[in-house]
Amino acid sequence: MQVGLKIWRFNAKTGERELQEFEIDAPEEATLLDALDIIKDRHDGTLAYRKSCRMMICGSCGMRMDGAAVLACKTRMYDIAQAGHVPVISAMGNLPVVKDLVVDMDPFWAKFNSVDPYLRPGFQEAPDGREHLIPPERMTVIHKEALCINCGCCVSECNAMESDPQFTGPQALAKAMRFVGDPRDGHKVERLEALNHEHGIWECTRCYFCNERCPKGVDPRDAIAKLGAESMAEGIDRDMGAKHAKWFVTSAKTTGWLRETELVPKTQGIVAAIKQTRFALDLAKHGKVPPPFPPHVAKDVDEARRLHDLVRDRGRPGYSGIVQGERALSRLAHGHGAGSETLEEIYERPGAFHRPYIAGEEETA
Ligand code: SF4
Ligand code: SF4
Ligand code: FES
Repeated sequence: MQVGLKIWRFNAKTGERELQEFEIDAPEEATLLDALDIIKDRHDGTLAYRKSCRMMICGSCGMRMDGAAVLACKTRMYDIAQAGHVPVISAMGNLPVVKDLVVDMDPFWAKFNSVDPYLRPGFQEAPDGREHLIPPERMTVIHKEALCINCGCCVSECNAMESDPQFTGPQALAKAMRFVGDPRDGHKVERLEALNHEHGIWECTRCYFCNERCPKGVDPRDAIAKLGAESMAEGIDRDMGAKHAKWFVTSAKTTGWLRETELVPKTQGIVAAIKQTRFALDLAKHGKVPPPFPPHVAKDVDEARRLHDLVRDRGRPGYSGIVQGERALSRLAHGHGAGSETLEEIYERPGAFHRPYIAGEEETA
């Protein structure tokens, strides 16, 4: 098949960038990484990119296709080429570009190291000289975080990192949750304390781009939600982000609304609120915020209260209360647990994942 690619080339010595177009002949099963290999072998040996395993394990081949981070070895070119689309390939975002599609991973590893990404055991030796037995449900809490291959695709897309390069970031925080939630680790509270800083968990803007782009289903945003919930459960709520979240829960429970007018005094304190009085009055004048008094109570506030009580009564504080969507995703992607539905029917559902191309399928169907 004919595959077209436009690649952003970058020369760090001169600082020059250039969009270069290639048209190549590739086998139908080719991935983006195969296409780059063909370009390097047969068209331009100076093209720089990283790769190693070619099977979505090593995390080396992260880059952007049409502005969104992908693993090159996971991205099939067949559908794209059939559609006549010529994708634009560029280096990952939020990391300095060294050459073409290669980024400097040092800032990434510095953040990774900052969360002590290793087990700090909370035990000396197993009872009776045997191994420690951990109930599977305890390990399920960190099952997804343990799948991370350190590719950096989530970091590439992170909005919070774009505005604050010091933000710890989705990959390092997912790794942090990997050990905060590990029942064998003995430093949970210490770890949580260390993550509740100016550039820590509460700086995430909850854009969910990291979940969307992670090629391994780690869902780093969910890991950050678990760290926030667990911090609260441990009474670590001094950060403004934690106060903000707590106020929203109180507000939704008492009136059924998110009363943003009271957010500043409740989270930043009275002094900060007084300093912003003029701004608040301007907002009120333009109808952007409702008057704080009397507080507006939603007609169906009882529903909000019942929901609050239902969640509380389930008795799942901290990370155990964070619901993840992996089962739904796995049903969409692989049809697991889908009853009598065929794979074809699953892929035809609105919003379902694209059916992967399987070489030779047409001949045998
Ligand atoms: S959800 Fe948070 S961590 Fe994830 S990409 Fe958005 S800002 Fe970054
Ligand atoms: S969380 Fe996902 S996207 Fe981020 S580094 Fe790990 S595997 Fe890659
Ligand atoms: S080459 Fe290893 S993940 Fe793509």
